[in-house]
Amino acid sequence: MNTDKYLKFTLTVSEQAAKIAGDYYGKNINIKYKGEGKNNLVTEVDRKVEDHIVKMIHKTFPDHCILAEESGDCGIKPSAYRWIIDPIDGTTNYAHGYSFFAVSIGLEIDGKMMVGAVNAPVLKELFYAVRDKGSRLNGKPIKVSRTNRLETALLATGFTYKNRGLNLPNFEHFLYNSQGIRRCGAATLDFCYVAAGRLDGYWELGLRPWDMAAGSLIVEEAGGKVTALDGKPLNLMGKSSLATNKLLYPHMLNFFKEQPLLHEIIREAP
Ligand code: IPD
Ligand code: CA
Ligand code: CA
Repeated sequence: MNTDKYLKFTLTVSEQAAKIAGDYYGKNINIKYKGEGKNNLVTEVDRKVEDHIVKMIHKTFPDHCILAEESGDCGIKPSAYRWIIDPIDGTTNYAHGYSFFAVSIGLEIDGKMMVGAVNAPVLKELFYAVRDKGSRLNGKPIKVSRTNRLETALLATGFTYKNRGLNLPNFEHFLYNSQGIRRCGAATLDFCYVAAGRLDGYWELGLRPWDMAAGSLIVEEAGGKVTALDGKPLNLMGKSSLATNKLLYPHMLNFFKEQPLLHEIIREAP
C-alpha cells in the first residue's frame, strides 16, 4: 500500500498542531477538570489543537473515521481508515510549563497502525514512523537500545488519574531492579524515547488508545517490541502496554507474568 500521501498529510498537520500548542505554551490559559477529582486536566489548547486536526482530516479525507481524546469517536461512517489523536499528551506538564508534552496523530488502516507522528514542539522533536519503513526523529533514522539486562536499563512508567496505586508494586520492583525509573508524564513520548534508545523499557496500566496509537508503531518500527502487559498482542482498547527493545522484553515480561492478579489489575485499571 502506498502510504506516502498519508505520511505527508500527517506530518503537515502535526507541525501545524504542534505550532498551536507551542504558541500558547507558558501563556495564561483556561484549565478545566475532567471526571472526578482535580488531577485530570483539560486546557482550552487541548481543544484548539484537536479541533484543528479534526477539521483538516474532515476536509482532506471526509470518509475517514476519527477517534480523538476530547471529542470522542466522531467517525462519519465505518471506514477502513481511522485517525487516532491525542491533541496534547502530557496535559498536566503543559499546564505547569513543563516541556515534556506532545501532539500525537496515528492512522490505522484495516485495524493496523500504519502511520504515526509524535511532535514535541518545545523540545523541537518530531518522531514519526510508517509501517515497514522505519522510524525517524527530525528526519534521521532511530533504533531502540541494545541493553539486555535490567540492572543497566533505564525504564519509564506512568500513573493513571484514577487508581494510581495499582502500579506501585510494579514501580517498587523495577525501582530496585533497574538502573533507574523516570516518570515524565507523557505516554506518547515515553514510547518515542524507547524508540530512540534513550529509555530501554516503558510500561503503563490504564492507557487509552490515543496514548498508544502512534507511539507503539514508532517503537516497533525502531526495532522494539510492544505488547499488552500480559504479553498478548497490543490492543489499543486494552489499557496496558509494555514497550522495550527485544533483548530486555523477556526480562520485563517475566516479572509481569508472575503477578498473580495481573489480569484483574488490567481489567480494573481506569
Ligand atoms: C496522560 C499522560 C501520562 C500518562 C497517563 C495519560 P494526557 O495523557 O500520557 O503520562 O501517565 O496515563 O493519560 O491526559 O496528558 O493526554
Ligand atoms: Ca494522553
Ligand atoms: Ca491528552
